[in-house]
Amino acid sequence: MDTQNNLEATNSPLGARGGFVAIIGAGTMGNGIAHVFAQAGFKVNIIDVNAAQLQKALTTIDKNLDRQVAKGTLTAEQKTATLANITSVNSIAEGVKHAALVVEAATENTDLKLQIFKQIDEHAPEGCILASNTSSISITKIAAATKRPDLVIGMHFMNPVPVMKLVEIINGYATKKEVSDTIVELSKQLNKVPCVVNDYPGFIANRILMPMINEAIYSLYEGVAGVEEIDTVMKLGMAHPMGPLQLADFIGLDVCHSILKVMQDGFGNPKYAPCPLLANMVLAGKVGAKSGEGFYKYTAGSKDLVVSESFQ
Ligand SMILES: NC(=O)c1ccc[n+]([C@@H]2O[C@H](COP(=O)([O-])OP(=O)(O)OC[C@H]3O[C@@H](n4cnc5c(N)ncnc54)[C@H](O)[C@@H]3O)[C@@H](O)[C@H]2O)c1
Repeated sequence: MDTQNNLEATNSPLGARGGFVAIIGAGTMGNGIAHVFAQAGFKVNIIDVNAAQLQKALTTIDKNLDRQVAKGTLTAEQKTATLANITSVNSIAEGVKHAALVVEAATENTDLKLQIFKQIDEHAPEGCILASNTSSISITKIAAATKRPDLVIGMHFMNPVPVMKLVEIINGYATKKEVSDTIVELSKQLNKVPCVVNDYPGFIANRILMPMINEAIYSLYEGVAGVEEIDTVMKLGMAHPMGPLQLADFIGLDVCHSILKVMQDGFGNPKYAPCPLLANMVLAGKVGAKSGEGFYKYTAGSKDLVVSESFQ
């Protein structure tokens, strides 16, 4: 049995701050982040403006915990204790007021995040660390929207959060070393592997991943090879578990497009410009798995990988 499933979050790296964690956004990432904190013994408030999304997050966490129980990596008692650690809340002001740490995982939109961080800063206790799970938005910019830029940091979990080991920790320009060290220790307590990087566009994960995905899309756009061939070359030739086009569908083509734009603007370098095919697919609403179609076609209940008709 995994010792990290011990639900006593003793010796919390959050120390005197206490052990209460508020997660903002109950979408794909928010529910996974709430799951891993609650499983490690932290009391969690999961906050969303959308009540249906909050309900859906609790159902997803329940289902994912069931899968762990079925695999024998969690006991039924630990599942019950994990769920008991999670409370859903529909207001930021209410949800963050006793937090030691806030992890924001709301929609990837700069103006929205700046507004959310202003609000958190107003209502979270003094000394509370404010983290963002943003994939691409500058931590330094987010920090500047608060009166505590030294306590603001990037805590970039990977999807699906309960499964993926990495947490990319992003130090903003003003982030205090003590805060960075605390988040490193905390990530280890979540049974994750932390990697600390500095705050430049795309950080490390997306700075390297997105140009590869963009190049795969360019190869398709220029007719060098088809969807299946491109993904097969990278899967079988480079031992990637998933081809770059399938991965792009999984991340969301709108998300890939916006991260590339952030890097293009942030570095002022045209090498990051999104491929025109990617831009067209986003305009057409074919943004990958979540829309039912991207480079592949997705049918509910089917796990078959079927290339989209547009590319056959
Ligand atoms: N999806 C991924 O693979 C992935 C991976 C790493 C990081 N991220 C980052 O994580 C963040 C969340 O992404 P996601 O895929 O979970 O998005 P999502 O669209 O699934 O969920 C976002 C949630 O935020 C909620 N929200 C919007 N405004 C809010 C507000 N003012 N207050 C509270 N909740 C609000 C929405 O209702 C929604 O439930 C983004 O910053 C994204 O870049 C995503």
